Amino acid sequence: MDFGTIGAGTIGQGIAGHLVTAGHRVILSNSRGPDTLRDTVARLGPSATAGTVAEAAAAEMVFLAVRWQDIPAALADVAAWDGRILVDTTNQMTGPTPRDHVDLGSETGSEFVARHAPGARVIKAFNTLFAQYIVPDPRHAEGRQLLFHAGDDADAKTDFCALADEIGFAPVDAGSLREGGRLMQVGGGPLSALHALKQN
Ligand SMILES: NC(=O)c1ccc[n+]([C@@H]2O[C@H](COP(=O)([O-])OP(=O)(O)OC[C@H]3O[C@@H](n4cnc5c(N)ncnc54)[C@H](OP(=O)(O)O)[C@@H]3O)[C@@H](O)[C@H]2O)c1
Repeated sequence: MDFGTIGAGTIGQGIAGHLVTAGHRVILSNSRGPDTLRDTVARLGPSATAGTVAEAAAAEMVFLAVRWQDIPAALADVAAWDGRILVDTTNQMTGPTPRDHVDLGSETGSEFVARHAPGARVIKAFNTLFAQYIVPDPRHAEGRQLLFHAGDDADAKTDFCALADEIGFAPVDAGSLREGGRLMQVGGGPLSALHALKQN
């Protein structure tokens, strides 16, 4: 399987680092173009390359790692998802604290993302963890970092869990994009910012 990131900041680079360590190829992208990511991909290693958003989004599994307000623009250039997996790492926040969360009414943040990526099989993941629990090796002496995720497509979940497990996390299925996504989102979701380890 090949991988892409839309967004190459703290979270995009952190996930790309795990993918490279596990021996996978990953294309990173941002809004300013591949030339601006030359140093970043050099640091990550030879299986990381920089591309356009369209090139990154052509991968079989794509990680969306942009700030909330940038989601519509970041997804606008992707012509068709055709069932590729989009892992939504975002939080509906316009500022640094959960107090800055965006109230979408009855729609969850993950449904908002799915609406902007028609045809993608969306998995919500990584958003419940602070960056310091995402970026380093998630395998600790006391156990592996729990990684909650939600989604509506069973096969996409299977693929995501296999990858999460391979890169060292302990995946935990929180349910559907709607119900699981609600449990995981900022602004009241009980799994948001819940950092825990699984022994083994
Ligand atoms: N940091 C955390 O602790 C944490 C933890 C869990 C989840 N999250 C969530 O993860 C997401 C990313 O957070 P982050 O901390 O990685 O943010 P960040 O460091 O600010 O990175 C955001 C990235 O998005 C890129 N970007 C902006 N507009 C874009 C566009 N139109 N198309 C493509 N790329 C675009 C930015 O690059 P350019 O500006 O150069 O385009 C940058 O590479 C957020 O939604 C955040 O809520 C963050």
